[in-house]
Amino acid sequence: MSARPFRVALNGYGRIGRCVLRALSERHKQGGANFDIIALNDIADQASIEYLTRFDSTHGRFPGEVRVEGDCLHINGVCVQVLCASEPEQVDWAALEIDLLLECSGQYATREDAQRFIDAGVPRVLFSQPMESAADVDATIVYGVNHATLDGSERIVSNASCTTNCGVPLLELLEQSVGIEHAFITTIHSAMNDQPVIDAYHHKDLRRTRSAFQSVVPVSTGLARGIERLLPQLNGKIQAKAVRVPTVNVSCLDITVKTQRDTDITFINQLFKQAAAHGALHGLLDYTELPHASCDFNHDPHSAIFDASQTQMSGPRMLSIVAWFDNEWGFANRMLDVAQHFLNIACTTNRQ
Ligand SMILES: NC(=O)c1ccc[n+]([C@@H]2O[C@H](COP(=O)([O-])OP(=O)(O)OC[C@H]3O[C@@H](n4cnc5c(N)ncnc54)[C@H](OP(=O)(O)O)[C@@H]3O)[C@@H](O)[C@H]2O)c1
Repeated sequence: MSARPFRVALNGYGRIGRCVLRALSERHKQGGANFDIIALNDIADQASIEYLTRFDSTHGRFPGEVRVEGDCLHINGVCVQVLCASEPEQVDWAALEIDLLLECSGQYATREDAQRFIDAGVPRVLFSQPMESAADVDATIVYGVNHATLDGSERIVSNASCTTNCGVPLLELLEQSVGIEHAFITTIHSAMNDQPVIDAYHHKDLRRTRSAFQSVVPVSTGLARGIERLLPQLNGKIQAKAVRVPTVNVSCLDITVKTQRDTDITFINQLFKQAAAHGALHGLLDYTELPHASCDFNHDPHSAIFDASQTQMSGPRMLSIVAWFDNEWGFANRMLDVAQHFLNIACTTNRQ
């Protein structure tokens, strides 16, 4: 373990970037993280950065002191340097002496893009999205499933997506217990910043030109391919679709599985209850039998909350399950988990 806390910077201070900074601040209060965010870069101005850190329509007021002075965003008295560059090359990353960059702008999705940060002095990058292909990244990590595969030599790592972080642990459990012949997944996802509030020329995907708060909007999703990247044993067995719904946060996966072996509702619910209570998924997977609605999971740090009240069977091998996830807060917490693990592995065994 390093003597000093590791130094981390954020690129892109939108929904995920701000949740990452805030979740880290909450962890610091509990002594649960050995790194600091020492700088953030966004194309926004400092007044907006301060304002949107202090006041958040979804997660409430920042629980601590937030103040901008010069180029410092003071969080509980500690300075986070604020940068305002639109291109990786415009920042002297080497001078910041960071151990890791958390890329949360969503603007960079290829190895070529990642290399621009590395050439500009960033030692390693963790992306808040799946990269375009497996070849674009040294590793795609779903914490709790494959984070132990990191060996510290990686430079470009992806934290996958919020939906992958929810779905992969569930599918892995099902594959190991009842086997998966085929599966359909529907993501029911809250609105995002890539949709306009009212109809507008906004995106080349025509449906994303439509008002986020007026319709249920089908959108394309790479979830099936993302799952296969993590669980290659399911290659060719998964299909997925996604709809955006007029809520601001919290989403769910509705998964239908044709199982390889006979099963029943009691067995399936017990499987997820046990996995949530003990073992590798404890703290990442939660379990509920209560009659919830999505807003109950706002600010929930789990990757998936299995909703036992929604488990159904049609015959002994056609299974339907539902799991909730806070697409912002759960995912931001996984960014922190992967960042901490990556830093521990890379900077203690392989410090450059
Ligand atoms: N929101 C979620 O639930 C969620 C969950 C998991 C993963 N993700 C992924 O995380 C990424 C970010 O999503 P988000 O929801 O946080 O988006 P967002 O709220 O739009 O945040 C992106 C931020 O990056 C800024 N930005 C744009 N271009 C930039 C550049 N060249 N350099 C630095 N900053 C730049 C944006 O500024 P402007 O707004 O001025 O353009 C914005 O502040 C996406 O890849 C998304 O798929 C999102």
